[in-house]
Amino acid sequence: MIQEKKIEQVESFWNENLCGSHFIDKEKFSEQFYTDYRAYRFKKEHHIPPIIEAMNTANKDVLEIGLGVGADATLWAKNSKSFTGIDLTEEAVYATGRHLELLNLKGNIVKGSAENLPFEDNSFDIVSSHGVLHHTPNIENTFKEVSRVLKPGGSFIIMLYTKDSFNYWVRIQFYFRLRLLFEMFKHKLGSQPKGWWKEHIDNIKKTGWSYLSWEEFPHHCTDGPNCDIANIYYKKEIIDLLQKYGLKVTNTKKYHFPVLKRFPKLELILANYFGFFRFYWGVKE
Ligand SMILES: C[S@@+](CC[C@H](N)C(=O)[O-])C[C@H]1O[C@@H](n2cnc3c(N)ncnc32)[C@H](O)[C@@H]1O
Repeated sequence: MIQEKKIEQVESFWNENLCGSHFIDKEKFSEQFYTDYRAYRFKKEHHIPPIIEAMNTANKDVLEIGLGVGADATLWAKNSKSFTGIDLTEEAVYATGRHLELLNLKGNIVKGSAENLPFEDNSFDIVSSHGVLHHTPNIENTFKEVSRVLKPGGSFIIMLYTKDSFNYWVRIQFYFRLRLLFEMFKHKLGSQPKGWWKEHIDNIKKTGWSYLSWEEFPHHCTDGPNCDIANIYYKKEIIDLLQKYGLKVTNTKKYHFPVLKRFPKLELILANYFGFFRFYWGVKE
């Protein structure tokens, strides 16, 4: 049976799995590690630098929620009046603080939760959060907090996993599920599963068949089998929930269809239809 999921589980998972760091084979927190990570990230998510640039951060107080290695933080911090970053984990707070320091950038980096932000009301002109709020137990609390800390008229930019995508319907719900059943069948016949398939099979042994249910399985198919919370949303439910807290969505667009890494322009077009990362831009009314 799947138990209710707690913020402590989220913290523990991300503390042990500094987001994206496993793609880089250099010593963690070395200068070369950060250089390689930025190169990797801004090649794969090539849409991010122009999106941040278009936010015109000069003279703005910026808050980023959920930092990982802090690559985006370096872009936000570069031109803004002030930059504040917050993350649930010691690991990401350290990683981002060091990242900024190595590039001689300023920032106030703190540990805390998006569900309970340790900032005064009306503190920021821009709040950004990329790939974070779908990992927390109660996303509604985070929208309430974003609204509280934004100045009236301030802007937000939030990226969340979206259901209207190839990744959700075809890759996760169809292919991964069938492939896992096949891997389990092979395992029964004596073959040893590898990588994520092994972790999935171990999880099924621990939690039972409910792990494979329509609702539960996707949580384990985005950031690794041991990630407990990775919600995937419909656009309308997010727009309505943001609106409930006075956060009016003015634009949304999908990105990230990484099967065509070598053709970034084509990737952008396909991602617009099939992408998994939906950005929501808007203002606090
Ligand atoms: C998938 S990573 C994304 C990091 C970065 N924004 C990026 O796109 O690479 C998720 C990050 O969000 C953080 N996180 C998850 N839940 C959070 C919460 N409730 N409050 C603050 N940070 C949270 C995790 O610790 C982790 O560093």
